[in-house]
Amino acid sequence: MTDRSDIVWHDQTVTRDEREQRLGQKGAVVWFTGLSGCGKSTVANELDRLLGTRGCATMLLDGDNIRHGLCAPPSVLAEEHGDVFAGRFGLGFAEVDREENIRRVGSVAALMASAGLITLTAFVSPYRRDRDRVRGIIERSGAVGDFLEVFVDTPLAICEQRDPKGLYKKARSGEIKNFTGISDPYESPQHPEIHLRGGDDRTPAEQAAEVLKVLEMKKIVSLAGLGS
Ligand code: ADX
Repeated sequence: MTDRSDIVWHDQTVTRDEREQRLGQKGAVVWFTGLSGCGKSTVANELDRLLGTRGCATMLLDGDNIRHGLCAPPSVLAEEHGDVFAGRFGLGFAEVDREENIRRVGSVAALMASAGLITLTAFVSPYRRDRDRVRGIIERSGAVGDFLEVFVDTPLAICEQRDPKGLYKKARSGEIKNFTGISDPYESPQHPEIHLRGGDDRTPAEQAAEVLKVLEMKKIVSLAGLGS
């Protein structure tokens, strides 16, 4: 086993501060969590667009897309890398697979924030411990306040009614196992920085505007670009 003392951190010449100064903004992670179909990706995409109009440098990491590459399932990895590799590194939806999914994404989000980007993520991330670990990674690599948890709190009944990918139907029939909200748990955030109640009358754009307001209040986004 590789000894951790054989892996030594090397401080880079260009610091996070310098990268942030170049961009004229502070890096941060805005972490959307909620059930499949709750609207987190939609609101995150709206926010991404809104931040763009303010001239912010952003990136959006979305579970459905990340699971095509960085966190691909064994069936995808097997084609290129073989079964043994796929068995070790491919991810499904068991608790431990989600833990690794969120660990990888948390590390990538930390890197992006340290490059000065306002990094938006949209993952079910059903386990409180996994989300709290990411908060720890982000705060240790930056500062307290760099991680904002956005709980998109849409009732299961509404998510299931929407069922945009037909997955709830499959989960109910038992075709898909470990489906969050049906056959797997979702642990709600206890103290999210932002609590959006999905399924109310507001549009995703209005909800994104609410998140933007908090980002302004916390000085992650400055009001300076307004109207320009
Ligand atoms: S997480 O739980 O590990 O954070 P992630 O956000 O990456 O999940 O992926 C969730 C997406 O995968 C859902 O939006 C849904 O489209 C799809 N999916 C497929 N199987 C499941 C499952 N068993 N539980 C939840 N989502 C699933």
